[in-house]
Amino acid sequence: MEKQPFAHQHILNGFYRGLYRGSEKHDSPDLSRISLIRRMVDLFERGLGPKVFLDIGSGRQSLEKELKNTHKNRSWMDELEMFTVDMADIVNYKLLLARSKKVHHIRGDALLLPFDSSQFGLVVSNHAIDFLPRESFSEAARVLSPDGYAIFYFHHPSMIKSPSKNPKIEMFWKYLRDNEILFKDEDQIREELRKRGLAVEEIHLNDDRVDKWWEVVSRKSTS
Ligand SMILES: C[S@@+](CC[C@H](N)C(=O)[O-])C[C@H]1O[C@@H](n2cnc3c(N)ncnc32)[C@H](O)[C@@H]1O
Repeated sequence: MEKQPFAHQHILNGFYRGLYRGSEKHDSPDLSRISLIRRMVDLFERGLGPKVFLDIGSGRQSLEKELKNTHKNRSWMDELEMFTVDMADIVNYKLLLARSKKVHHIRGDALLLPFDSSQFGLVVSNHAIDFLPRESFSEAARVLSPDGYAIFYFHHPSMIKSPSKNPKIEMFWKYLRDNEILFKDEDQIREELRKRGLAVEEIHLNDDRVDKWWEVVSRKSTS
């Protein structure tokens, strides 16, 4: 099945192709990755976590690299298999875990994930899936196993309120503002995810004094 790219996909592709060819390793607040890793590790340690997880809009695999570096001696680490998906054209040697046998990267679209249904016990996305059409949440729910966890970190709209000095970024932010792409509030997050088959268990607003983001923990609805 072929899908038409959504209107701002070419802006995203162009921007991230350039970004990942340079020295940038990520495009998310450092504290957001630390916080997301803490939530993932909590699941793994409690034995609730899956042995296989998917990161949607992973970029260069910074999250996975930091997870590996900070928890390499944990018993569950050897069993953990990581899948990363990103639409950007990232050359293999720019992937931070390209040489790891347990980390698999696929250049692909969150709207049409190249995976079987119910394949993952955990799906995460850090500052990425909320840029995309809402159908991408249905896709995330499809690949989650029953009762599987989805942990998403979303840009708070204040992150793009003042115009960026970088004209390429500003063009994209203007598009996001004009088309109200980012979530407005917590009620909207709960309702949208519910419609997409994900029950929100927790929403926490976090910040690093510069940026603000929502940390959303949800589970695949069984009803
Ligand atoms: C703000 S960046 C976040 C990257 C990474 N999660 C991080 O923390 O650095 C958004 C990411 O979404 C990716 N992306 C854009 N459109 C996509 C799509 N349709 N499917 C999958 N990933 C996409 C971009 O290429 C980019 O890497």
